[in-house]
Amino acid sequence: MIERIGVFDSGMGGLTVLRQLRAAFPRPDMVYLGDTARVPYGGRSPETINRYAREDVEFLLHRRVDAVVVACGTVSSNSLDYLRQRFDVPIFGVIDSAARRAAALTKTGSVGVIGTAATIRSGAFERSLRREREDLQVISRACPLIVPLVENAVAPDDPVAGIICGRYLSAFAGKDIDTLIMGCTHYPVYRAAFARLLPGVTLVDPGEALAQDLGPAFSGAAGEGRTEYFVTEHSAAFTELVRVMDPELDADSIQVTGLDT
Ligand code: DGL
Repeated sequence: MIERIGVFDSGMGGLTVLRQLRAAFPRPDMVYLGDTARVPYGGRSPETINRYAREDVEFLLHRRVDAVVVACGTVSSNSLDYLRQRFDVPIFGVIDSAARRAAALTKTGSVGVIGTAATIRSGAFERSLRREREDLQVISRACPLIVPLVENAVAPDDPVAGIICGRYLSAFAGKDIDTLIMGCTHYPVYRAAFARLLPGVTLVDPGEALAQDLGPAFSGAAGEGRTEYFVTEHSAAFTELVRVMDPELDADSIQVTGLDT
């Protein structure tokens, strides 16, 4: 029986997944870890991402979680098999649910994927989309500057965000995509900017898709519905996003921690 779920990301992006999980599953206790001291992960090598991910999972297991949600596209696309081989608890990533949702939604058969450099380099979304539907055309674009913008609390309607997102999304001009996977969990924070730049394109939120797919695993979960938040470095932007997403929470209860505890 699942009572306590660990959820982690390199920083605050996983809060977009946590929000969807909490809406779908009010009962289980959840422990969120944002590795804010080492964000972003998306420019690192696969070996470094594996190591960071292993340390994040070990931290959560010390907090006695009985399942782990990898609320990070970069870790899900690079390290899911690595983590599953090392740890006994069920570990869920965000790639396949988002791909399944996009494959079901597209009518033109052309799907766009945006993500960090490591996610796009891994090819994980593309493989997962093709497993769903061999005939899909997949156009992928790495967007390395978006995570630092979000982590620095640059608002989606800030002209700087508009210029950078506009430059990245111009990769999809004339490509007939009607569905775009926001393949990094930070990106739903910029949903409004993407919608403005790609009118008429359906945006797939990986956290929302995953929460739907996790029904069979989590709907019978017990617990008291508590959420604990840990970060590896104090971050005002993280605290602000938690405040928006979890208005009941006393922001002082976000704990700053090392990962060796
Ligand atoms: N939210 C993470 C993801 O989904 C951001 C990765 C990073 O830190 O670059 O990929």
